[in-house]
Amino acid sequence: MDTNHGIYSSDWTNGGIAITEPPPGEAKLQMFIAMDPPRHDVQRKAVQPIVAPGNLANMQNLIRERTCKVLDGLPRGETFNWVEHVSIELTTLMLATLFDFPIEDRHLLTHWSDVATANKDVDPNAPTREERLAELQKMAAYFTRLWNERVNSSPGSDLISMMAHNPETRNMSPQEFMGNLVLLIVGGNDTTRNSMTGGLLALHNNPAEWDKLRNNPALVDNMVSEIIRWQTPLAHMRRTALQDTELGGKQIKKATRW
Ligand code: HEM
Repeated sequence: MDTNHGIYSSDWTNGGIAITEPPPGEAKLQMFIAMDPPRHDVQRKAVQPIVAPGNLANMQNLIRERTCKVLDGLPRGETFNWVEHVSIELTTLMLATLFDFPIEDRHLLTHWSDVATANKDVDPNAPTREERLAELQKMAAYFTRLWNERVNSSPGSDLISMMAHNPETRNMSPQEFMGNLVLLIVGGNDTTRNSMTGGLLALHNNPAEWDKLRNNPALVDNMVSEIIRWQTPLAHMRRTALQDTELGGKQIKKATRW
């Protein structure tokens, strides 16, 4: 299902991948997660080098140093907000690195991610449609400035440079530019923030598992994927059937969204 786009489409023109419809009056975001091949593949390829093994290896020391610094700086013997001090801080620092975004403005990345995913149906205090669009326009303007700086310099190894220098993403429409920014910002924010938080809670609630880890740090590698399974930050990505089909003995009618 994940790969057979001929039958199960992710494309925003067929319904996209979000479970809920966008708020009334808002268009679906045109981002590569919500596209089918070939457009999906060429846009994804533009940013894929960011997670190439060599690049991840290069970032390892930085990630370790930052994590130690954030944990060492936590208050001791008093209550504090883990989400704010650890999950958001580490996630946003990392995202700023991936975009080569000014570190002192990194709170904006958290803010734009929260604005992009805000939904009045579940949170009455969420911003209105007008407020959301105004904030996302500010995000586009900020990134346009960074884009214009990078497009005229030699290619860097950050996400903006990768898109600015790739022929497939260099001339994106304003809708695709906005959509792909939201994809990368939300993708990098909401996921790891929630798994870091839910993972800590799970260890707190299961002290025997915590003890196992403390006694055997070699288990940490498995812990990471296990936490994502245990406390998955993503419930579901929707597909839309483009034709009548069958899966696991179940009939699926054309245009079924699930
Ligand atoms: C706990 C961490 C994460 C989880 C569980 C997670 C999960 C997922 C899943 C399930 C999809 C597939 C969507 C589909 O089938 O349509 C996806 C796609 C994607 N994720 Fe993540 N993600 C995580 C972290 C991140 C981070 C840190 C980034 C960095 C920006 C990111 C960026 C993306 C992008 C760009 C896509 C679209 C890929 C494509 O369409 O080919 N994700 N993620």
